Amino acid sequence: MSLSTRIADFDDPRFDPFETFESATQSDSDEDPYVRLAGMREQKSVFAVDYRELLGSPPDETMRDLAKYMVLGSPEIQQVLETPQVFSNTIFERNVGLCFGRSLTVMDAPEHTRYRQLFQKAFMPNVVSKWGETLVDPVVIGLIEGIKHKGRADLVKDFTKYYPFQIIYKQLDLPQADIGTFHKLAVGLTCIVVDVAHGVEASQKLGAYYSLLLEERRNSGGADLVSTLAQAEADGERLPDVVLVSFLRQLINAAGDTTYRATSSLLVGLLTNPDQLEAVRRDRTLIPAAIEEALRWEPPVTVCPRLTLQPVVLDGVEIPAGSEIDAMTGAYNRDPARYENPDHYKLHRKQQRHMGFAYGQHVCIGQHLARVEMTRALNALFDHLPNLRLDPDYPPPKVAGVNMRVPAAVYVRFDA
Ligand code: HEM
Repeated sequence: MSLSTRIADFDDPRFDPFETFESATQSDSDEDPYVRLAGMREQKSVFAVDYRELLGSPPDETMRDLAKYMVLGSPEIQQVLETPQVFSNTIFERNVGLCFGRSLTVMDAPEHTRYRQLFQKAFMPNVVSKWGETLVDPVVIGLIEGIKHKGRADLVKDFTKYYPFQIIYKQLDLPQADIGTFHKLAVGLTCIVVDVAHGVEASQKLGAYYSLLLEERRNSGGADLVSTLAQAEADGERLPDVVLVSFLRQLINAAGDTTYRATSSLLVGLLTNPDQLEAVRRDRTLIPAAIEEALRWEPPVTVCPRLTLQPVVLDGVEIPAGSEIDAMTGAYNRDPARYENPDHYKLHRKQQRHMGFAYGQHVCIGQHLARVEMTRALNALFDHLPNLRLDPDYPPPKVAGVNMRVPAAVYVRFDA
């Protein structure tokens, strides 16, 4: 089912949001950020510094006026994320709020609790596991069909960049002819941190479309995600359109982008460790461990920012109210006090909590879906691309980025 109104592209259709967002999250230095952060953590847990400046990525224009503190110690990171009454998500009103709108990310309790309870019902393990065969497999296998006769591919450009976006797109039941425009606008939303004008433009175009779509689907009785959310109620009341539209904006962005990054880094972890790749290929019950280790080793999101609502002392550092606190969740995942040899991808690690999906009240709502998608994607790659291995004509792939990480390419060969 699709609207008669078409989604509008950026006014300047040549604007490339993929390129703009990628440059916003990269570093101008070749240094591995984890090396620098590990050295600093040996000295102390909390630093009065902007991690972006420290690690060579562009400043977030929307946060310029805030005092900034980087939190590197694992106990302090945990404290930040489990104390939302002090470390508030309202910091996101400044950036994500401008492009997603009133999404879960900008809310604190009790508003957050009220809407989260409702939205998360649509992404519980028992719900998303059913999407595996009907939604995930056709997308994954469709993309692999396009490369399997070639014997070589860049699995980022040919596969990971597209499959999670196509899955959420199908679940939202949006018109197939416009998928390219929606993908541009979805990525355009997060350009807000470096290009406010294009971020706002993407937000307005998606917002106008979604408002009409909700009106149409509210009484349609359809089973797609938009119809389900349009009919949902909290405390006997329909959800306000502003909250629904914001959630839909967030969904089309978050569901596509992060899983693409996570799957790409999972492939790097396995392909650069051929013995581990072989172990998983032979014994598919190891896939969940392979995924969790990838999310620990190279989480796509490495920082969770929060705003202090009151003065607070963290590891002896006095922090005033109204400061930006950057909980470095990627560094938590590389803490040698928690993980032996943390910089190595090691499938057979003792399983313990990582912060790949963050932690606390705002822990990722889509984590179960992401796991279903990655499991089915890896199985399908093994099944349909025999003898999958790195392409020796290219240097080994490297995961890069500061607050969002991904390899630029994963060149592979397989038996066609
Ligand atoms: C491997 C893939 C994914 C990763 C690594 C990831 C990571 C994260 C992280 C770190 C957060 C918390 C940010 C913070 O607290 O500052 C988050 C929140 C969120 N994620 Fe994901 N995500 C992934 C996939 C998805 C998918 C597939 C969806 C869509 C179904 C999704 C939807 C959301 C939403 C709506 C929130 C906000 C939750 C809240 O504030 O209560 N994510 N994600």
